[in-house]
Amino acid sequence: MLPLMSSIILSALFHTTQGTLATYVDLPRRSGPLSARSSTSGLDAFNGSYHINITLGGNQYSVLIDTGSSDLWVAGAVPQSEDTGTSASIQYAVGLAEGPVKTAQLEILGFTVPDQAFIEVPVGNGAPDGTGLIGLGPNTGSHIHDALIDLPAGDTPLDRIFRQNLTTPNYLTVLLNRPNDTAEKYTGAMTIGEVLPQYSNITNQPKVPVSVLDSIISQSQHWSIVLDSNGIVGPDGKAIKVTSNATDAPIHDVNQLVAVIDTGFTLPQVPSEVARALYSSAKGAQLTNVQSFNGDIWVIDCDAEVNATFVIGGQSYPIHPLDLNHQVTDNDGNNICFGAFQPRIAGARESTYDVILGMAWLTNVYLLIDYGDFVDGTTKTDDPYVQFLPMTDPAAAHADFVATRLSGKDTTSSQRNSGSDGPKGLFETHNILILAGAAAASALLL
Ligand SMILES: *[C@@H]1O[C@H](CO)[C@@H](O)[C@H](O)[C@H]1NC(C)=O
Ligand SMILES: *[C@@H]1O[C@H](CO)[C@@H](O)[C@H](O)[C@H]1NC(C)=O
Ligand SMILES: *[C@@H]1O[C@H](CO)[C@@H](O)[C@H](O)[C@H]1NC(C)=O
Ligand SMILES: *[C@@H]1O[C@H](CO)[C@@H](O)[C@H](O)[C@H]1NC(C)=O
Ligand SMILES: *[C@@H]1O[C@H](CO)[C@@H](O)[C@H](O)[C@H]1NC(C)=O
Ligand SMILES: *[C@@H]1O[C@H](CO)[C@@H](O)[C@H](O)[C@H]1NC(C)=O
Ligand SMILES: *[C@@H]1O[C@H](CO)[C@@H](O)[C@H](O)[C@H]1NC(C)=O
Repeated sequence: MLPLMSSIILSALFHTTQGTLATYVDLPRRSGPLSARSSTSGLDAFNGSYHINITLGGNQYSVLIDTGSSDLWVAGAVPQSEDTGTSASIQYAVGLAEGPVKTAQLEILGFTVPDQAFIEVPVGNGAPDGTGLIGLGPNTGSHIHDALIDLPAGDTPLDRIFRQNLTTPNYLTVLLNRPNDTAEKYTGAMTIGEVLPQYSNITNQPKVPVSVLDSIISQSQHWSIVLDSNGIVGPDGKAIKVTSNATDAPIHDVNQLVAVIDTGFTLPQVPSEVARALYSSAKGAQLTNVQSFNGDIWVIDCDAEVNATFVIGGQSYPIHPLDLNHQVTDNDGNNICFGAFQPRIAGARESTYDVILGMAWLTNVYLLIDYGDFVDGTTKTDDPYVQFLPMTDPAAAHADFVATRLSGKDTTSSQRNSGSDGPKGLFETHNILILAGAAAASALLL
């Protein structure tokens, strides 16, 4: 995740509203069994984030997978580890992951790294023993790499894996599923160096180059790409006119938005004019400041179907209306809905990107990130790139929405271009509960 822990905030919501995520419906094509090969793993998902099991020093940890940061940390004393004598800290908007940098044997997805560097964080309120986070971002953004003065020993887990066997293809793939009516948990899969066999045609998708920052600001490097020119198609079927404000990103067309791919960020972040174009004409639309969301959010009616499509590398990626309109249920059983594509909040405003493609966006694609020559110390000179396989079929998604939000009765044609005179004050009433949840969980990752 980026320095702002949005997933914490949403996890609070998810927690207070347990069970309500079950309103999602899986698309049939996603329900195939996942490969059981050694370099493939399923993901556990809870509290609005996706986790994978790793072993460090012989102990098992459930770590959040995060393409938006570049460091591994775990909570609790790791057995059979060595102290490097240095320490590192990662500042998040709410809290800090800080502690000694140690090394221990890492096992992940069938790969073994004998002396992987990580931060050992004290067990705390929000960091239960046996949990942690694995940063899957580029080495240049790693604090441990910095702390170990850029020595190969401080490289990220994926760099270590790719460097120890140069014939392993340098890519990671991630599939994030949303739960259906009965599934209790989000699921998904992650692979290193191979693709899920049922979606192997991802390798035929356009290769979207990673936007590589100037070396002076390489610490801010993420897996960023540029969308096509005016590459977000709004609910009216027309491209939303956008202007990039990512002045420190590599030169790109002013109508192309720069987007960070972030499996650790729950709510996608978009420029406020994009959020307005997506939601302002939806039923009940009301821009509301919600403290636990760290900023504004568009509250909309639960039965408002919002359609949007992203265009990247000439390929269209339709977004599921259940991802664009999130439903939560408060303790009184009332449903509250909001536009999950949030106007960028303060912590998500930087000069190197315009958009964060977080979980509610990533559930619509199968993702491949090829690390290319970001792998420190290899002789590979390929440029890093990203590929996406579209996973949302608009007709099936529409049917899901009608089934789950409209009790099977398709009234969406009357919604097109409808006004925005929603009931006022709805969210304010329920705010208190959400705020309380956020306060309780604000220490989730320290
Ligand atoms: C992770 O480990 C726990 C405990 O051993 C197990 O219940 C869970 O299914 C594992 N998750 C995955 C994705 O393998
Ligand atoms: C390196 O990776 C290749 C391809 O994944 C595999 O065939 C080979 O056995 C690996 N070599 C070692 C020493 O692990
Ligand atoms: C939902 O997921 C569960 C567990 O994966 C599966 O058993 C069930 O058949 C699915 N239901 C639907 C309606 O797809
Ligand atoms: C990829 O393969 C899947 C399964 O074979 C198929 O349903 C899908 O249409 C293919 N997608 C593309 C973009 O070729
Ligand atoms: C563009 O970025 C600058 C500096 O980061 C900021 O001051 C300005 O408000 C931004 N403009 C918009 C429209 O977001
Ligand atoms: C959303 O898209 C679906 C599929 O293309 C369409 O059937 C539905 O009418 C659209 N909904 C609205 C509100 O435009
Ligand atoms: C989810 O969050 C709640 C509240 O912060 C916490 O009590 C619970 O242990 C978390 N669940 C998992 C599986 O981490």
